Amino acid sequence: MSERLVATAAELRRRVDGWRSAGPGVGAGAVGTDPGAGGGAVGFVPTMGALHAGHLSLMRRARAECPRVVVSIFVNPRQFGPTEDFGRYPRTLEADLRLCAEAGVDAVFCPAPEEVYPPGFQTTVSVGPLTRRLCGLDRPDHFDGVTTVVARLFGLVRPTHAYFGQKDYQQASVIRRMVADLALEPEIVVCPIVREADGLAMSSRNRYLSADERQRALALCRGLERAQERFGAGERDAAAVTAALAEQLREAGAAVDYAAACDPVDLEPVARLESGTVLLVAARIGATRLLDNHILE
Ligand code: PAJ
Repeated sequence: MSERLVATAAELRRRVDGWRSAGPGVGAGAVGTDPGAGGGAVGFVPTMGALHAGHLSLMRRARAECPRVVVSIFVNPRQFGPTEDFGRYPRTLEADLRLCAEAGVDAVFCPAPEEVYPPGFQTTVSVGPLTRRLCGLDRPDHFDGVTTVVARLFGLVRPTHAYFGQKDYQQASVIRRMVADLALEPEIVVCPIVREADGLAMSSRNRYLSADERQRALALCRGLERAQERFGAGERDAAAVTAALAEQLREAGAAVDYAAACDPVDLEPVARLESGTVLLVAARIGATRLLDNHILE
């Protein structure tokens, strides 16, 4: 369909080997060039597809910083719980490939499950306490699924730089922890949350929302804005602010999984708010679980 599309690990390896030994590409941004890697920088954006402007912002950042950019599209079964939406997760490959082409991506790795998890595969990468709080409480095996697939994809793609969204704040923190703990190569770059015009954080799952739910989903970003206002007005009590946030979500008819104020690195809850404290929310609107977060400033 497109010469960008790469389906097998062997073909991916062939291409990346060529790029890394050839050194920095011509014409593209080369600020990410890592002399220690002995070649050109390779930027990597792992995704599960159903691409939107949030994903696009990661690709553009990678494109600006690295001469070569790889995007992966793989709906990873291991990070979905048994009752979650793996079966109905949106799959929009043709539109995704068009977006990748527009963003100037060099290769789109769309592996079959056997390429990612070949017969005999039996390793799980599991990060510690950081994965057991917040989303980990409701999704106990989720982060093991994420770190295992991301570690495997890092092994296949061998990027010098990897791009993640602040939208999934805990996920980005867990990946940073894994990369530091295992001394993995890529530099982790976390990019700002891209929002719809009315403030809703973009997500592949937003397409599950009915018109009414879509309206109610605004409670997440509005609640965070309100919390920022209170912080700006001098409020420092984390419990008061998170209780009000949860209440605002419930008023919109959301089932609140958590509304928390945490340390930005280890995600331990804090009692006192300060600039840099991260507020995180997860709530279900109907059957759709949505996330949002905001770093207090
Ligand atoms: P996915 O949900 O497709 O997201 C891919 C990347 O896009 C993640 O790093 C996510 O944080 C980022 N992203 C999503 N919405 C965003 C937004 N509104 N603004 C900025 N960035 C946004 O996250 C995953 O896939 C998977 O868990 C994955 C890392 C690919 C492992 O399977």
